[in-house]
Amino acid sequence: MRIAILLCCAGLLCGADVKTAVPWEKSTAAIGRDLFRENCAVCHDIDKDQKHSHKFGPSLMHVFQNGQMPMSHAKASRQYVTVRIKFGGALMPAFQKKLSDREIAELVDYIESK
Ligand code: HEC
Repeated sequence: MRIAILLCCAGLLCGADVKTAVPWEKSTAAIGRDLFRENCAVCHDIDKDQKHSHKFGPSLMHVFQNGQMPMSHAKASRQYVTVRIKFGGALMPAFQKKLSDREIAELVDYIESK
């Protein structure tokens, strides 16, 4: 009986993959990163600058550090980025129906951290 429990625990430990931690163990940064990968990365780079980015939308790397948005040249702010995510743009889809306010805030946290 004891051995069975031990084996079971060992299996759980070995099987546990840090990258696929259960959602309630994820840090906010990881949540933002995953939301970005799922919803934005098809069209936006965040680890490549504009010069090296070949995606449909502008690269969002360092937008907060630069203080300016890459395409519209608007002042970079949480409010501006939040509005763009919610309502989209001429070529960008709107996410207000797809993502909750909390998820959008997590995305903005992530973009701000890059
Ligand atoms: C289908 C492709 C597509 C997807 C998906 C997409 N975007 Fe965009 N995004 C664009 C394009 C193209 C532009 C620039 C033209 C426009 O405003 O429509 C843009 C513009 C932006 C801007 C404004 C840039 C500026 O210079 O003002 C922000 C911020 C932004 N996207 C963030 C995001 C985030 C965050 C996500 C994920 C939730 C996302 N986008 C998903 C295509 C996309």
